[in-house]
This record gives sequence, C-alpha cells and structure tokens, in this order.
Amino acid sequence: MAKVILKTITKFFGSNKVLDQLNLTVNDHEFLVLVGPSGCGKSTLLRIIAGLETSTRGTTVIGNRTVTELSPKDRDIAMVFQNYALYPHMNVYDNMAFGLKMRKVAKEEIDHRVREAANILEISNLLDRKPKQLSGGQRQRVALGRAIVRNAQVFLLDEPLSNLDAKLRVQMRAEIIKLHRKLRATMIYVTHDQIEAMTMGDRIVVMKDGKIQQIGTPEEIYNNPANMFVAGFVGVPPMNFLSWSPGVVLGIRPEYIALIEKRESTIDTEIRSEKGDYIIEGTVEVIEYTGAEKLIYLQTNFGQMVVKTDTSQPIKEEKRYNLLFGTTDIHFFNMESGLRMGQDRPEQLVGTAAVV
Ligand SMILES: Nc1ncnc2c1ncn2[C@@H]1O[C@H](COP(=O)(O)OP(=O)(O)O)[C@@H](O)[C@H]1O
Ligand SMILES: [Mg+2]
Repeated sequence: MAKVILKTITKFFGSNKVLDQLNLTVNDHEFLVLVGPSGCGKSTLLRIIAGLETSTRGTTVIGNRTVTELSPKDRDIAMVFQNYALYPHMNVYDNMAFGLKMRKVAKEEIDHRVREAANILEISNLLDRKPKQLSGGQRQRVALGRAIVRNAQVFLLDEPLSNLDAKLRVQMRAEIIKLHRKLRATMIYVTHDQIEAMTMGDRIVVMKDGKIQQIGTPEEIYNNPANMFVAGFVGVPPMNFLSWSPGVVLGIRPEYIALIEKRESTIDTEIRSEKGDYIIEGTVEVIEYTGAEKLIYLQTNFGQMVVKTDTSQPIKEEKRYNLLFGTTDIHFFNMESGLRMGQDRPEQLVGTAAVV
C-alpha cells in the first residue's frame, strides 16, 4: 500500500487552466474523497494520478516512486469509472480476468484472484453471465472486482455510483467503505455529491475552479468551513448567509436555529435568551415536510432563511416567529474574500442583533 503525494500540480488544456498548483498528500490506507461541482477538475486530477493525463507542471509520487513520467500500467494503480466500461461480449469471469491475462499473470493465479474478488463482492454466482444479464448494481460490482484483482497499491474511483438509482447508491456507498476496510488500500474517490463525500471520506478535499478550497475530516469541513463556498457546499439545506454588517456575512446552519412563536403584542426584548444569543424575526412562507424533519422557509429583515426542525413542533404558515441561535453556532465571513473570520471577532459585530 502507498501514499500519494501531489506537488504543485498545474494543468492547462490549451490556454484553459483547469488545475492550479494543487498540493495534496493522501495517506497510506486512507479513503480520500475529492468533491466539488462539475467541471472543477476532479476527473482531470484523478487521471493525472493514473497517468492517463499529463500535468503541465508538478510532480506525482506514489509510494516511494516519482511516477510523473511513468505510463499508467507502471504506476500500480487500479481505476473504476462511472461508465463501468465492461466488455459486453465477455462474461463476468473474463471481464475480471482480462487485465491480468494481458499482464501475463499465470492462469492459476488469475483464477485464484478472480474467485477471491468475486467472493468479497458476493458475485460468485454471476461469473458466467454477460454484462447485459446483470443489474446496474451487479455491473458496478464487476467493475470493482476488475480493480480488486489487480492487487494495486492505490485505487482511483471516478463517480463510480452515479449511474445507480438513489437507493442502490446508498447501499453501494456502504459496500465500498466495507471493501476499503477489507483491502486496506489507499483509495481516492471522486464525486460531485457532498453527501457521498461526507459519509464516505476519512478526509475530504473540496475543490472549486481547479483549486483546493479545504482539506479536512467531514467534521472539520462541516464545523469549521474555510470559506463561504465550502460552508454553502456542505450541508442540506445549505448554511444561511445573512448580510450582517458592511463587509461581513453571518453564517448559521438551518439545524442550529430554534423557532419561537411570537405572541401578539410582545416585543423581542421580553424573550429571555441566554446572554450572547441572537434573535431575529421572520414570517413563515413555506413549510416542507420531509418525513423525519421539517424545513421552514422564513422571510426576515436579513433575507430568506431556512430552518430545520423536528416534526413535533407545530409551525404555521404566515405566522411570525423569533429565530434564535447561539454565538457558538455562527460563523462570520469576509464578504469580499469569502474567507471565514477567526474567533477574535471585531467588537461591532456583537450587539447588532435585535437582542443580545
Ligand atoms: N481533454 C480535455 N480537453 C480540453 N478540456 C478538458 C479536457 N478534459 C477536461 N477538460 C476541461 O477541464 C475542466 C475540468 O474537467 P473535469 O476534470 O472533467 O471536471 P470534473 O471531473 O470536476 O467535472 C472542464 O472545464 C473541462 O471542460
Ligand atoms: Mg468528472
């Protein structure tokens, strides 16, 4: 197994810069997820690690070797793509064995590896079938099997679940995590789906426009987003952003806001809040019931906000509520740079809410 180290990787397609000085170390045995919107350069980066694409500048190291100049077959990697790319005329066994045959691996060794991989993936009963006789999920397993038999140091997976329906995708997510535990290989997994990234990654790399925005554990990314992009990209529904004071944006996640019904003729200051909590007023516009929770969309003086509540709280449309949230749950961002501001908040930021 192996570390992967990327040093100042830059990639141009013509005059179009799609990767901009990326530095990244993927630890041995790690499950690392590259996540970001479509077109941000995830696949290109993965293909550079695989050797299917050359970087314009920068160095790729796998294990103890600099592989920048090596062809894919000499890099000791296995790759799984979104469109499984199975050979339609070959049965499952031959699909899995093909790469090894090309590498002139001994027949008994191939047989051993194919059956072992099939066993791990629970597709031993499908070895005689052709791809068209398989469900989407089964085809995905075969594609994974083809990677497993390679005994590669590093697995590269590019949106391997995007062709599956929602339920199967969730199931295969867990399967791949189990597979990772079993194989203990280094895996780099690309997705545009932040939930997939959050649920699967030991660490997550959030990318945008060919640049790394943040590297961290799911908890770090969620609790301490480096900037407004990351804060808005992770979490469903996304963080609320309020224009707070000149040049400053306040961020608060929908799940950290409490709704308190405003009684007739009361004023805000009558509400006893913990010192330092914030309260703003809003009118409920839309309520979405999702089963386990409700999403409440309110119009406030700071713009539209969304609040996630449990279903037991009776919330009524068109009613006015106080939105209450604590100082420890909020983030401040520099409006211009988008960067999250440190804990030492400027004095004037505190006290601008209706009640403190
Ligand atoms: N072979 C190519 N030639 C020219 N431009 C490309 C090529 N491959 C990708 N691109 C461009 O590079 C950018 C990043 O693409 P890609 O890495 O596929 O993004 P992602 O996988 O994050 O969706 C996109 O703007 C895409 O159009
Ligand atoms: Mg892609």
